Amino acid sequence: MQFAYGARIIGVGAGLPSSIVTNEDLTKLVDTSDEWIKTRTGISARRIVKDHETATGLAIEAAKDALAFAGIGGDTIDLVIVATSTPDNLYPSTACQVQAAIGAHRAPSFDMEAACTGIVYAISVGQQFIGSGTYKRVLVVGVDIHSRFLDWEDRNTCILFGDGAGAFILEQTEKNDNEMLATYLQADGNGAHLLWIPNTGTQYPHAGVEPPKTVQRHLQMNGRAIYEFAVNAVPEAVRQATEAAGISVDDIDYMVPHQANIRIIRAAADRLGLSEDQIITNVEEMGNTSAASIPIALWQAISRGEVKIPSMLCLVGFGGGLTWGSAVVRWTAVDQRLSQSRKETAGATAGAGSVD
Ligand code: UT7
Repeated sequence: MQFAYGARIIGVGAGLPSSIVTNEDLTKLVDTSDEWIKTRTGISARRIVKDHETATGLAIEAAKDALAFAGIGGDTIDLVIVATSTPDNLYPSTACQVQAAIGAHRAPSFDMEAACTGIVYAISVGQQFIGSGTYKRVLVVGVDIHSRFLDWEDRNTCILFGDGAGAFILEQTEKNDNEMLATYLQADGNGAHLLWIPNTGTQYPHAGVEPPKTVQRHLQMNGRAIYEFAVNAVPEAVRQATEAAGISVDDIDYMVPHQANIRIIRAAADRLGLSEDQIITNVEEMGNTSAASIPIALWQAISRGEVKIPSMLCLVGFGGGLTWGSAVVRWTAVDQRLSQSRKETAGATAGAGSVD
């Protein structure tokens, strides 16, 4: 795909609930153990919202964090896209509320839904608007609060998910400075029944039908089938995007996968010939935060100084729909808060040695 302009990512941010729920905590709710959960998923803990916390609130926090990372104001954003499957309300969109909170006065704003792959879809949509020259700066947020749609008596599902928001800021560049080298999107609705949350839309209750006392609106999943799908989808998506970018898998410095299960991530990395230190993962601490997991994982790795700059990243998502997709990105962004504080420290040091 030829674009008139290039794009790069200049900011990443996160918004996390403060409450941490450990595997040990879950043993009080369901018949499980820390050992089972760690061995089968790699998860030790996850963040879960308190009653007062909302998807909108987390999305705003992530957006502000990404703006600070990029060192820009919200009023410079031209378009806001929020990927979520668990918005606070059917409307207004989460994106409109983020737009107002960050002061992006002139930015059209909308939500989109592609389950856990939502953030990759949103990046790709943002890139189209930038590449065509329509907008110069796009804020993309992924946010999900699955905890409100889990059956806390179902050990098959309640151990897997955490809540959170993550954000990226995309900016237009000249064509020869392009850093978003390729994206790849896929879907297969034949697998829709493998991962879904029933009775959360207009399908039920039907008009004129008395709703039963208990309407089941918890996440349903065929774990085995999703596992099989994911270990094939991730390598395919990485190969497709790298090929479209005109590079080989060997050129990838880090894969930033959707954080669902460490076994899926390792199996996929293995098939691609990627080593352990090329995988960016925080599933141990965060669980599966759905559309938010890729930016949260990258944000945390960058905050810990674990990502060399520049580097070649492949972001790769998979999830309900079924959906999957990937993005090859050359990462050059530096947290502007750190460069600012380095400048201040350098200034203070220079000042301390100088004679008035
Ligand atoms: O964003 C995408 C979201 N979804 C996913 O990524 C899920 C992908 N799938 C998976 O991650 C794995 O399939 C799971 C972690 C969900 C399950 O692991 P598994 O190795 O496929 O286990 P299983 O479902 O085959 O269950 C094995 C056993 C069963 O007991 P029996 O029937 O063998 O007696 C389960 O009842 O483990 C039992 N089990 C548990 N035991 C302790 C299931 N959940 C638990 C649990 N604690 N939490």
